[in-house]
Amino acid sequence: MVPKAELHCHIEGAVSPALAARQAAAYGIDLSAIIVDGAYRWTDFTEFLHVYDTVAALFRTREDYALLAHDYLTGLAAEGCLYSEFFISTDHAEMTGLAPQAYIEGLAEGIERAKAETGIEGRMIATGLRHGGPEAVERAARFIVDHPHPLVTGFGMAGDERMHHPADFVRAFGIAREAGLRITVHAGELCGAQSVRDALDHLAPERIGHGVRAIEDPALVERLADEAIVLETCPASNIALKVFADYPSHPFVALREAGVKVTLNSDDPPHFHSSLANEYAIARDHFGLDDAALTKVTRTAIEAAFCDEETRTRLLARLGDGKA
Ligand code: ADE
Ligand code: ZN
Repeated sequence: MVPKAELHCHIEGAVSPALAARQAAAYGIDLSAIIVDGAYRWTDFTEFLHVYDTVAALFRTREDYALLAHDYLTGLAAEGCLYSEFFISTDHAEMTGLAPQAYIEGLAEGIERAKAETGIEGRMIATGLRHGGPEAVERAARFIVDHPHPLVTGFGMAGDERMHHPADFVRAFGIAREAGLRITVHAGELCGAQSVRDALDHLAPERIGHGVRAIEDPALVERLADEAIVLETCPASNIALKVFADYPSHPFVALREAGVKVTLNSDDPPHFHSSLANEYAIARDHFGLDDAALTKVTRTAIEAAFCDEETRTRLLARLGDGKA
């Protein structure tokens, strides 16, 4: 099995419909509007965000989140994944009345339990929601800086890229960066190359979530390669959300051939009928990567991981590609 690593998954987006149904039964919630025939039902990004929020609202205690992180990470480990970084959202905890500290402690407990059972390493990236606006994202950054946790190693921004401008979030990202958190930001998914350029210019991330629409501007592709910006690409997500029509028109191969550092990620796997193993299978079947090339993608992800150097060295040694 090819060793794998994941840098881009939203933990609330990783809830399987079966787990959502169990939580809904426990809390007496009717999910028939969002789960049909065992699958999430939405038609566009706005509706997807609504379903995402509805599912997140089924997790209300520290234990609920420990269960979720444990469930997700043990599943990943079974797919051959050595390392997982997932996005967390203290805003979603607050929406259900759960204290953000309890949310983080629960997730951390799930990470530790999964590691003890399978060896998988986990880290968390705190995020603000772009559609919540600059004050909300600044509040999310301030919270995580004021309540540091050793497993929360990065800060990012998800949500609706069509709203606000990266310049509006300079203060929020400055707060996170000054505290030593590593930076990634979603861009170039719902909006085009200019959105990626603006994110780089104003927020100076090391990594970009998606970033795939950079392909619309060859000069920007060259900049990504020159500056060694790592793209957290999520192919199945892009097809499901109609960012690209199909895999032949997805720019993964073109970006890789242009020297851009690309990684493979599942984003919100059950919403896109995907998994990390499926993303690697897509790269093999549609993008022509063999085992050595796929292992190289994993190496790129671990090199770009927001973890300490000792952990990174240990993970790289497990790749079995003779390069550690
Ligand atoms: N939040 C969860 N999934 C997302 C995506 N694909 N883009 C932006 N925000 C998200
Ligand atoms: Zn995402």
